[in-house]
Amino acid sequence: MKKILVLAGGYSNEREISLLTAKSVCNELKKDKKYNIKIQEPNGEFVNVLRSYKPDLVLNLLHGRYGEDGYVQAILESEKIKYTHSGVLSSALAIDKELSKKIFVKNSILTPNYLKFIFTKKLNKEKFIKKIEKKLRFPVVIKPINEGSSVSVYICDKLTFINKLLSLKKYGEVLIEEYIPGREIQVAIIDKTKLGAIELIPKRRFYDYEAKYNSKAKTEHIIPVNITKKNYNKVTSIALKAHKLLKCRGVTRSDFRFYKNKFYLLEINTQPGMTSLSLVPEIARYKKISFKQLIERIIKDASINK
Ligand SMILES: Nc1ncnc2c1ncn2[C@@H]1O[C@H](COP(=O)(O)OP(=O)(O)O)[C@@H](O)[C@H]1O
Ligand SMILES: [Mg+2]
Repeated sequence: MKKILVLAGGYSNEREISLLTAKSVCNELKKDKKYNIKIQEPNGEFVNVLRSYKPDLVLNLLHGRYGEDGYVQAILESEKIKYTHSGVLSSALAIDKELSKKIFVKNSILTPNYLKFIFTKKLNKEKFIKKIEKKLRFPVVIKPINEGSSVSVYICDKLTFINKLLSLKKYGEVLIEEYIPGREIQVAIIDKTKLGAIELIPKRRFYDYEAKYNSKAKTEHIIPVNITKKNYNKVTSIALKAHKLLKCRGVTRSDFRFYKNKFYLLEINTQPGMTSLSLVPEIARYKKISFKQLIERIIKDASINK
């Protein structure tokens, strides 16, 4: 029997999503008698549980800070226990939208133009708006540097911009990005191969938290994506390139905007959601890979020190 410690919950804004993911994954694995599963929060007891339960591997289903940013990965490295998904460095780079965008730009991957704003600076509103208009164009998107699930992501025009910006002061710094109209396409990579792509058509203004997780918000999922074969190859190749550049492991999901025949990479997610509404399982299903097979591939890739 394989002993698997499933890490779920945690302290980020995506706690509930992580618990939902764990529920669907564990329901699936428990059907198979070859797995001995224990679910664990990454709390103060976590290291003691690791040492007493002695799992063969940790299935990391956390999202956001602490679970997706290299912290929990570093603990697992020092405990010498194999874990799924990306390692310390890749996780830390991918969760940081500023650093990962710098890597994308350096490697000729198109990503929306942006400015970083640090809240310690005294804000001269008019001057700042002029600065933005010089480098970007309104509307812009304001987003935290290391958040997820569209939490605190806002599309703003010139009028709403300053108020929205100030409402994010608690983050200390944020990115201000050029808004890319057009289509939303996401690509899944697994084991350094292309799994596939999906298009999302939100009924809301953009693919925000409600559009992602509330089935009543009725985001349309389109698979296969209606783009040319050449463009399909292009977008999946960019996702694979980003996955390799950041030295990711296991499964990742890259979020793109597609506008005027160009793909803009918004971010790469190293702990993509695995709930029943999630995109990676849906892409896998389309490729005739069942949910269970997908999880087993993720488990097979568990490792340390890579
Ligand atoms: N520059 C942008 N242009 C257009 N839409 C954007 C832009 N940035 C973010 N969005 C919208 O917000 C969503 C969440 O942004 P993203 O950068 O992927 O952060 P998160 O980590 O919260 O998913 C995207 O899926 C997209 O719908
Ligand atoms: Mg995203």
